[in-house]
Amino acid sequence: MQKSFLLAPSILSADFSDLRSALAFIEQNKGDWVHIDVMDGHFVPNLTFGPPVIKALRPHSSLPFDVHLMVTNPGDLIHPFIDAGANFITFHIESAIHAHRFISIIHEAGCKAGISIVPSTPVSAIMEVLPDIDLVLVMAVNPGFGGQKMIPRCLDKVKELKKIRQESGFSYIVSIDGGVNKDTLSSVLDAGTDVVVTGSAFYSGEIPELLI
Ligand code: DX5
Ligand code: ZN
Repeated sequence: MQKSFLLAPSILSADFSDLRSALAFIEQNKGDWVHIDVMDGHFVPNLTFGPPVIKALRPHSSLPFDVHLMVTNPGDLIHPFIDAGANFITFHIESAIHAHRFISIIHEAGCKAGISIVPSTPVSAIMEVLPDIDLVLVMAVNPGFGGQKMIPRCLDKVKELKKIRQESGFSYIVSIDGGVNKDTLSSVLDAGTDVVVTGSAFYSGEIPELLI
């Protein structure tokens, strides 16, 4: 298939004992960004990578690092991840009372800012930050684990965000995260998604095979 979107493979589904090869696999298979799922064992029931791991990986890829913070206190981690080499920092509205402050901190550090919503959060919850944000990450599964089944209704939020963007002239891009595989990819693209995050179906070879 012709690729008309940005592909952001998630290293959450890679072999953690060989993350360097996981980065190379992204570059060899039409990946545009490296999606990095940061979990704190509190906002979500799982733990993954901290800034030292990302810093160690930074010299081994020329692609943008798209850091997805699934943490209770994103404000504490913005600077450490920017210093480690993040290009995009996305945090959840569900854990950000002072979202505009976080966006400013990210922008002042020269980084792009993203906002994410879990499946139970409506687009209306992020209305006030849409003019200032670079990326909206729509979660199509409840965050915490790779390999879950997509909740298809979440795609309506992609359509809604595209419509708001068109009508308002805002410039954010829309990303979808969770449950993208060979069966769901076409519906994701039909909804108008700009950036496709994919973990398990990327590292299993399923998505790369579609893009040959
Ligand atoms: C889920 C993460 C996702 C995850 C997607 O909490 O935010 O980025 O890696 O994995 P798949 O594509 O397997 O659903
Ligand atoms: Zn993610």
